[in-house]
Amino acid sequence: MKDTIILGIETSCDETSAAVVVNGRQVLSNVISSQVDLHAEYGGVVPEIASRKHVELILPVIDNALKEAGVSLEEVDAVAVTYGPGLVGALLVGVAAAKALAFSLNKPLIRVNHIEGHIAANYITHPDLEPPYVCLVASGGHSHIVHIASYTEFRVLGRTRDDAAGEAFDKIARVLGLGYPGGPAIERAAKAGNPEAFRFPRVKFADAPYDFSFSGLKTAVINMVHQLQQKGEPLPVEDICASFQQAVADVLVEHTIGAAKELKTDTICIAGGVAANSLLREYMSKKAREEHIRVLYPQLKLCTDNAAMIASAGYYALKNGCTADWRLNAVPSLRI
Ligand code: KG4
Ligand code: ZN
Repeated sequence: MKDTIILGIETSCDETSAAVVVNGRQVLSNVISSQVDLHAEYGGVVPEIASRKHVELILPVIDNALKEAGVSLEEVDAVAVTYGPGLVGALLVGVAAAKALAFSLNKPLIRVNHIEGHIAANYITHPDLEPPYVCLVASGGHSHIVHIASYTEFRVLGRTRDDAAGEAFDKIARVLGLGYPGGPAIERAAKAGNPEAFRFPRVKFADAPYDFSFSGLKTAVINMVHQLQQKGEPLPVEDICASFQQAVADVLVEHTIGAAKELKTDTICIAGGVAANSLLREYMSKKAREEHIRVLYPQLKLCTDNAAMIASAGYYALKNGCTADWRLNAVPSLRI
């Protein structure tokens, strides 16, 4: 059967990315231009700056992705793009570029939900992975437990009711003066800390056992930091980071394994920026092993935002006959 070459485009937040992927699994190129340094001085992503930077970078990034892959535009079989959720101005840059390319090449345009893209990162890292399985998607904007029944059928089993897990990492890092993005900074500081130094809250809902809430945890940590600062006492930064990280890992792991057991699945995948966290990876693997469930996660580069995962999800959408028309628009609050 002829190979299907997909050009993927991702601009939902602060990375401008384009990738060329064959048959949804084989990455020929995955160019990611990060704006992190640009936003770091503001302690978070500034939407207007992100949009302007995407406009500047999108064509050179697409060019580089094609060059690196050794593929010409004419050889591309379809163009897949993230159309939500994300920052509207940022999404629009990718959507406009993808529409223009697909239209001029007379090739199919595929719309990809960013969260489904994160899940697909696992297909690239694990060539043998096939649905069904349960996936924890935890990033700066989302925390979901999803049952993947087939490549294109998703059922949300649990979701956050307030902050996303990554958002809590970012906000706490800011209060502790650790910079942006907060996840990697907290992970580094936590290595020298005691995860049992403080007992931060772990929220559970009786009516929805797989839902999350991280805002109470975030507030508990921030209140403690402010109280210590008011008293002029030194901040035990490492212990706070380690205890906070453990509290997040505890709920993510407990809820995901609970969902996997209920669905009697033998595979759990994790995805999204927070899936880069080594404590989460190790703790999930350890707890799942006790239940005879295997845990898979994407390689680090594929955990955070990138276009290869979008091209992979796009491939399965295309195979399922899901193409978009020229009216495609950005949907900032798109749900899975
Ligand atoms: O998936 P992603 O790049 O963007 C969104 O779709 O949101 O995720 C970014 C998030 C940020 O909140 C960042 O702090 C978090 O992922 N993150 C981490 C780690 N690396 C990135 N959180 C915990 N530990 C990490 N090592
Ligand atoms: Zn993301």
